[in-house]
Amino acid sequence: MKPIRCIISFSLLLWATWLVTVGSDLAADRAAMVALRRAVGGRTLLWNLSSSPCTWTGVNCSQNRVVELRLPGMGLSGQLPSGIGNLTQLQTLSLRFNALSGSIPADFAKLTSLRNLYLQGNRFSGEIPLFLFSLQNLIRLNLASNNFTGSIPESVNNLTRLGTLYLENNHLSGSIPDIEGPSLVQFNVSFNQLNGSIPKGLSNKPQSAFLGNSLCGKPLVPCNGTESSGNKLSGGAIAGIVIGCVLGVLLILILLICLCRRKSGKKMEERDVAPPKQSVVEIPRDKPAGESDNRSSGLSGVVNKEAKSSGTKNLVFFGKASMVFDLEDLLRASAEVLGKGTFGTTYKATLEMGVVVAVKRLKDVTVSEKEFKEKMEVVGSMDHQNLVPLRAYYFSADEKLLVYDYMPVGSLSSLLHGNRGSGRTPLNWDTRSGIALGAARGIAYLHSKGPGISHGNIKSSNVLLTTSYEARVSDFGLAQLAGPTSTPNRVDGYRAPEVTDTNKVSQKADVYSFGILLLELLTGKAPTHALLNEEGIDLPRWVQSIVREDWTSEVFDLELLRYQNVEDDMVQLLQLAINCTAQYPDKRPSMAEVMNQIEDLCRSNSEKETH
Ligand SMILES: *[C@@H]1O[C@H](CO)[C@@H](O)[C@H](O)[C@H]1NC(C)=O
Ligand SMILES: *[C@@H]1O[C@H](CO)[C@@H](O)[C@H](O)[C@H]1NC(C)=O
Ligand SMILES: *[C@@H]1O[C@H](CO)[C@@H](O)[C@H](O)[C@H]1NC(C)=O
Ligand SMILES: *[C@@H]1O[C@H](CO)[C@@H](O)[C@H](O)[C@H]1NC(C)=O
Ligand SMILES: *[C@@H]1O[C@H](CO)[C@@H](O)[C@H](O)[C@H]1NC(C)=O
Ligand SMILES: *[C@@H]1O[C@H](CO)[C@@H](O)[C@H](O)[C@H]1NC(C)=O
Ligand SMILES: *[C@@H]1O[C@H](CO)[C@@H](O)[C@H](O)[C@H]1NC(C)=O
Ligand SMILES: *[C@@H]1O[C@H](CO)[C@@H](O)[C@H](O)[C@H]1NC(C)=O
Repeated sequence: MKPIRCIISFSLLLWATWLVTVGSDLAADRAAMVALRRAVGGRTLLWNLSSSPCTWTGVNCSQNRVVELRLPGMGLSGQLPSGIGNLTQLQTLSLRFNALSGSIPADFAKLTSLRNLYLQGNRFSGEIPLFLFSLQNLIRLNLASNNFTGSIPESVNNLTRLGTLYLENNHLSGSIPDIEGPSLVQFNVSFNQLNGSIPKGLSNKPQSAFLGNSLCGKPLVPCNGTESSGNKLSGGAIAGIVIGCVLGVLLILILLICLCRRKSGKKMEERDVAPPKQSVVEIPRDKPAGESDNRSSGLSGVVNKEAKSSGTKNLVFFGKASMVFDLEDLLRASAEVLGKGTFGTTYKATLEMGVVVAVKRLKDVTVSEKEFKEKMEVVGSMDHQNLVPLRAYYFSADEKLLVYDYMPVGSLSSLLHGNRGSGRTPLNWDTRSGIALGAARGIAYLHSKGPGISHGNIKSSNVLLTTSYEARVSDFGLAQLAGPTSTPNRVDGYRAPEVTDTNKVSQKADVYSFGILLLELLTGKAPTHALLNEEGIDLPRWVQSIVREDWTSEVFDLELLRYQNVEDDMVQLLQLAINCTAQYPDKRPSMAEVMNQIEDLCRSNSEKETH
């Protein structure tokens, strides 16, 4: 009897001490985070101090210890207090895009489990502290866009697991130490005050990793090649260079002349089209307006004269022809530019009888009238609640018009990327997943009409929304109307890698573009416009680089991070988007499969809510 009691009481004692130590560790974590909150404020840190710290926003626990603390863009300011080092099990600390200043506290040296440290986009200053390079588990270190000074420490090499080192947009000086880092895949020191030569170990990095410094050597210009090779040039070589220069200047001159001519030619064309002549009588509204004028004016002031004068031709309606207006009515309507798209400018036309329609004025149509009519019959026969229906079209030699239902809320693109400042209503997860589902249904319907039928131009500005935020896909079937001379703006971040002719976009290429659209919904970021050099990123590559290193939740739009219970669904949709953007068309799912998966996801979502 006695021994057993002894054992029982002993194990009870053990259990109790275990409880106490575990409890006190979480208590230490809690104290450290409370001290942090007190020091850096932050209007959005609404932590409920009477519940477990593991339930607080941005906190993730494992085995009753805090392992992740993510407070990106929370408006934190001031200096970090010492005490964060007490979070000894912390693996990820993200304080990016706040307004934190001062130096990094020395007790960060105690964060020996730390794998990911994101401090970019703050105002930290002073030298990069050496103790960061004693954190042996560090994989990703991002100190970009701060106010760090001094040199890059040699001890970077101590971190054998380091995969990411981002130091761009600081005030670092001196030369880059001899960093070997075979594991270092992501590296950037652009826009500092570094000088000297780039070490061999980094010569395989892209040039853009070293911009805005006084560096030399591979991948930039050789360090002292210019003068010495200049001295060794033979007379023949010099003559060659001179001739080359003269030819080059001539070529540039010719190009300039051509460009100027084309420009003025274009201007004349536009003038031809835009302001209506006095003799045109239909203009009911106040003043004439060109294409660039966004304000109200008669549509007749916009479209070609030939269209107005030809009395015999008229609009061709589809379906039950429930619209009671003709070309004359349309031309008398007041018009407002809604946007300039790939295939032409779209106007909002308000007819005198009060009907509002969207009129797309196609440019660069190269197909014959017969072909055009056939294509339009196909487009007009598409009837699905997630498509913007084509109501009518008009074809003449100089003018091709398409009449659609008008969508007052505008496009997903403007909803996602317009007005990110104050006054913006955040787009929540339910709305975003609902839009994804609607758009998927619309496109899957198109694809179900035949293996050769694709949309051809899927992007967020072609997903329009109803007042209840239901998605309606527009602009389908127009890609095949234009000639093979694709203008640069047809090449954008949505185009699948295998597409070389933008008039021939397969269904699998549509799936790719839809995958990009999903990534856009999830990250809130617009894909790059490849040829126009617009601000932006290569979305699929960016997302994959982050997901590969299991920092998945770093990719999501900040507006979505407040909905923590849906993170699983977000990750699932992200995985689907990654599958859609597979490099090889065969690896991508079909649109029907994509639709089914999003349906499942939305269903589980609404089930969660009812429980
Ligand atoms: C804070 O948490 C406690 C315990 O979990 C709960 O009773 C209380 O309602 C919460 N307070 C708020 C404001 O959510
Ligand atoms: C917490 O971290 C674990 C492990 O990294 C992860 O599986 C889980 O999804 C995270 N939970 C939240 C709410 O971030
Ligand atoms: C951190 O831990 C030390 C030692 O346990 C303690 O003295 C200090 O008060 C803690 N700091 C914070 C902010 O919790
Ligand atoms: C880096 O490693 C070297 C040699 O192992 C060591 O002497 C040095 O103290 C380390 N530096 C840091 C910052 O840990
Ligand atoms: C950066 O640091 C310098 C001095 O180290 C200071 O003059 C400057 O105001 C700081 N800039 C910001 C944005 O904090
Ligand atoms: C780099 O700049 C520093 C001053 O900031 C100067 O002392 C040093 O000589 C420069 N090094 C090279 C290689 O130009
Ligand atoms: C490095 O950072 C600069 C500035 O932010 C950016 O322009 C460049 O594209 C980046 N390069 C790489 C390789 O990340
Ligand atoms: C020129 O390059 C050589 C090696 O390529 C180097 O030894 C020498 O110091 C360099 N000279 C200058 C002035 O940088």
